[in-house]
Amino acid sequence: MLDVHGGVPLKGTVRVRGAKNLVPKAMVAALLGDTPSVLRGVPAIRDVEIVTGLLELHGVRVTPGPDRGDADGELVLDPAAVEQGSIVDIDAHAGSSRIPILLCGPLLHRLGQAFIPDLGGCRIGDRPIDFHLDVLRKFGAVVDKTPGGIRLTAPQRLRGTKVGLPYPSVGATEQVLLTAVRAEGVTELRNAAIEPEIMDLVMVLQKMGASITVDPARVLRIEGVDRLDGYFHRSLPDRNEAASWASAALATGGDIMVEGARQQDMVTFLNIFRKIGGRFDVLEDGIRFRHPGGDLTSTVLETDVHPGFMTDWQQPLVVALTRASGVSIIHETVYENRFGFTDALRRMGATIQLYRECLGGTPCRFGRQNYLHSAVVAGPTPLRAADFTVPDLRGGFSHIVAALAAEGTSQVSGIDVINRGYEHFLDKLHGLGARFDAKAAA
Ligand code: EPZ
Repeated sequence: MLDVHGGVPLKGTVRVRGAKNLVPKAMVAALLGDTPSVLRGVPAIRDVEIVTGLLELHGVRVTPGPDRGDADGELVLDPAAVEQGSIVDIDAHAGSSRIPILLCGPLLHRLGQAFIPDLGGCRIGDRPIDFHLDVLRKFGAVVDKTPGGIRLTAPQRLRGTKVGLPYPSVGATEQVLLTAVRAEGVTELRNAAIEPEIMDLVMVLQKMGASITVDPARVLRIEGVDRLDGYFHRSLPDRNEAASWASAALATGGDIMVEGARQQDMVTFLNIFRKIGGRFDVLEDGIRFRHPGGDLTSTVLETDVHPGFMTDWQQPLVVALTRASGVSIIHETVYENRFGFTDALRRMGATIQLYRECLGGTPCRFGRQNYLHSAVVAGPTPLRAADFTVPDLRGGFSHIVAALAAEGTSQVSGIDVINRGYEHFLDKLHGLGARFDAKAAA
């Protein structure tokens, strides 16, 4: 429970480390190697703890690298003693994250079987895994759904296959990559996701000895190999965390230097950030984001797959848009239910209306269904403190930012979910001058 005192501009420096949406996947990839892997830039977040526990249950030795005093975060992953973890232990991790589904391919290659507990992750849509199961069956896996999760077996070595994704799913693309690299023969994946985190995983696998090509039409071709070695890799920085702090600077009228932020991963975000009136400076060791004073300008945006505007960027930005003069329109085309966090903003005085229509040029999968996946924000409106519970990772970050931008003191509960993806979150807020009192949950 936090009492957050608003009205304070966030000013100072934060450091982002390895991307939450790459590091756990690279850790899973280490399972495919016959020798140990070394991963650098690992952030201290819950998702890393969860995957560490899951890998250890399967006999992988995960040890921190030597402390070099640079707070860099290094893990050594040794898969030499991989064996099937006990079903009960694995089940204990059920509901905590979406990463376990990516263990399927590596475990089927090494053990011929896998048991995956029911998944967790942010409630921002029903987040099915049909694409994952379809491609695993095409590789030759036998998939049985059980009450507590999914049991998979590979009667013989998995075989390369030709698949096309109905939608460029990040997770399903990772599923294919982590399975195809050790399958017999060639795999072709059409309509693949090509987010920077995907390309980083491709580089990890290439270092291990995999043969992967990416063509301009987003078709991946993977030639299966008989063995892979461990890798040495530094994760790309977390562009979603960087974009979150950038929006926090706008929303609170502040000035935040995000060390480690990389322009090449954020070009689309930076365009919108400048368009609504934010100022940014790309420096040697990061990007400085600030509110230059005066009014912000409303805008129209649609989220999309890379290189479009990332769905993970819209929630914190919406808080800044409540301060912009005029009407902003956001069409969320990736997830069907990612505006739940706006309820709390409305209670704080924001003028936000949700619509079922596709309010944008790109007709998406959710049009003419019962999904409130477009938002209209009218501003500027001052925000008043309110009490609320954090709904999910990015929505939760937005709630805290809104409380910091609001007048008065807000009571925020359930902030632990933020630790899943933002490392040292409260320390960073404190370092930026935020005023809050941590209270024991009532
Ligand atoms: C990854 O989720 C990220 N999470 C998400 O970040 C990110 O928002 C998302 O990719 C899109 O970029 C991690 O990497 C851990 P998807 P993922 O499969 O892989 C539908 C955050 O805040 N779909 O690309 O689960 C799905 O319902 C999180 O850091 C199916 O229909 O996303 C969604 O509508 C949130 N069937 C769309 O595809 C499937 O089998 C995109 O999902 C799989 C996906």
